[in-house]
Amino acid sequence: MSVEQNTDHQPLNDTRTHPLEPLSVTEIRLSADVVRRAHDLGAGMRFETIELKEPSVDAPSDIPTPRRTFVCTYDTVTGDLYEAVVDLDNRTLESWLQRPGAQPRIGPDEFLNAERLALEDPRFVSALENRGVTDLSLVCADPWSVGRCGLPGEDHHRLVQTIVWVRSGANDNQFAHPVEGLCAIIDINNGEVLSVEDTGPEIPWNDSNYASRFQSEFRTDLKPIEVVQPEGASFRVDGYAVEWAGWKFRIGFTAREGVVLHDLQLKDNDRWRPVMRRASIAEMIVPYGSPHGLHARKNAFDCGEYGIGAMANSLELGCDCLGSIHYFDGILSDIHGDAYVIKNAICMHEEDTGILWKHVDFRTGDVDTRRGRRLVISFIATVGNYEYLYYWYLHLDGSVELEVKATGIINTAGIDSQAARAFGTEVIPDVLGQIHQHIFCARLEMSIDGPDNAVMEINTEVLPEGPENPVGNAFQAVETLLETEAMGKRNASIGTNRYWKIVNRAERDELGRHAGYRLLPTSCVTALGGPRSQLGLRAGFTRHHLWVTPTHETQRWPAGDYVNQSQPGEGLPRWTQADRNIVDRPITVWHCFGLHHLPRPEDFPVQPTVSCSMMLTPDGFFPSNPTLDVPPASSTHSCHV
Ligand code: CU
Repeated sequence: MSVEQNTDHQPLNDTRTHPLEPLSVTEIRLSADVVRRAHDLGAGMRFETIELKEPSVDAPSDIPTPRRTFVCTYDTVTGDLYEAVVDLDNRTLESWLQRPGAQPRIGPDEFLNAERLALEDPRFVSALENRGVTDLSLVCADPWSVGRCGLPGEDHHRLVQTIVWVRSGANDNQFAHPVEGLCAIIDINNGEVLSVEDTGPEIPWNDSNYASRFQSEFRTDLKPIEVVQPEGASFRVDGYAVEWAGWKFRIGFTAREGVVLHDLQLKDNDRWRPVMRRASIAEMIVPYGSPHGLHARKNAFDCGEYGIGAMANSLELGCDCLGSIHYFDGILSDIHGDAYVIKNAICMHEEDTGILWKHVDFRTGDVDTRRGRRLVISFIATVGNYEYLYYWYLHLDGSVELEVKATGIINTAGIDSQAARAFGTEVIPDVLGQIHQHIFCARLEMSIDGPDNAVMEINTEVLPEGPENPVGNAFQAVETLLETEAMGKRNASIGTNRYWKIVNRAERDELGRHAGYRLLPTSCVTALGGPRSQLGLRAGFTRHHLWVTPTHETQRWPAGDYVNQSQPGEGLPRWTQADRNIVDRPITVWHCFGLHHLPRPEDFPVQPTVSCSMMLTPDGFFPSNPTLDVPPASSTHSCHV
């Protein structure tokens, strides 16, 4: 049951005209039509992106924003790529720009086509037959991006490489049976299989399944846990605008990022105070550590090369989401310029988070306890073998948290040499789970109490022993203002318990403090891979846990606008060479965090979720604990057993 909340309330916004209202199916189709009428590229014309062109940070708020779309279209015959802006109100093309050398993302529509091309190639079929595989319906050839690893023709072809597994029977888990060493290199623009590599060993045939139909018996010692919200949910929803417990914001959804939070504000007494103008995960990369064969080319940028939102699931009530749930649909464009709807792509609900705060006055016997809760805005994307679960959490104390969980199936490889074993864990005989990382880049347009913000770094330093520190216990927090983009490139430091604080320096409270938010780097990983690796060259954003840039509407993607087969140095490394001032102006904070993953045997055949996160928590935004008004709660459904 989807819960429509508080329909008797006033609308939060006029959703028909709000400049951030997601594109409708009609608007997506209209955008493609306008572009086609102005510049028909012929039979090879495809559409990478049709998305809302959001108002820029410096757009005057008192003048209505024209409703516009950004369109990226390409020609599979010539390989050319163009960007267009469409004025939807006037049904006209506003701009048309060629981006020489740029390669569009690999759309979900193109996945199965690439597999079909491999399976129609006689060299590929013959390599499978040599391994005893003749039923091609059991073969899975996942098309992966190849980056820029020196493959012949990489400058003028739109390449994918197939990574191949085979099922032992219908619905078997193919990842237990890697077809090591077999790889087709395919140009997905012209449909040509450029080469077939075939170097590998026998296929391992031990089955390893996880699906319920393979489970002969389920344990019987688990009694149900139900989430009961007898009075419904506490949020108000109007279109894509939400209010909950003193928070308000709008939800967006793009093919490349998935969920976007817009105009996040907190209510402080009767005043709405801005916190963030726009927040999303703008990029992620999964570099693998094996130098062998096709594995050396595995550096999946799941936002920039594929589009994490485009691979979002339709969520299921009761298993993906528990409690009183409100779903939002994701409306996206396909490669033909048509629209499609991912039903229930975004889930929103409340969760109990345990004790918010508690104190026992042991002299008086007074006990005060408050329970915490959070609003969860989530989506789940299936990227080939893996699932990524994104959860934005808004807490009662003003904290904003983002948790990313990974589950699904590790990317398995066969073992073709003793040397291969060094780069992973043998999860079942002759099947390797390779060492890899998942590095996410959050893009946060901060707007604490207004557009002009700045970032401080806080390190806690131990004072030298001496007259100021006679018994050696002294340590103190030291603040440093990050003034330019060069200063804004920072890494976490466990030694000084480093964190960063975003502040609005226009005003001070009565104690002289600026309102701010701490960014706590809770899940930093060190990006591995040398300076000449794809990670080092094309994912330079991973070199630092923090970057700060002036907010600019054309600087959205930390690894560059077009990541597929991109040139080195794009995105954050290139923009920040300008070393712009980042003090007291609209700034974007970029935070890289993630998971370092040497697979365990327990990660197979399906991986229990693992998690990483980032946390923004108020620091001087409120004069004191803002949650004293949370009423004491007593659950009437809890019982002694
Ligand atoms: Cu992993």
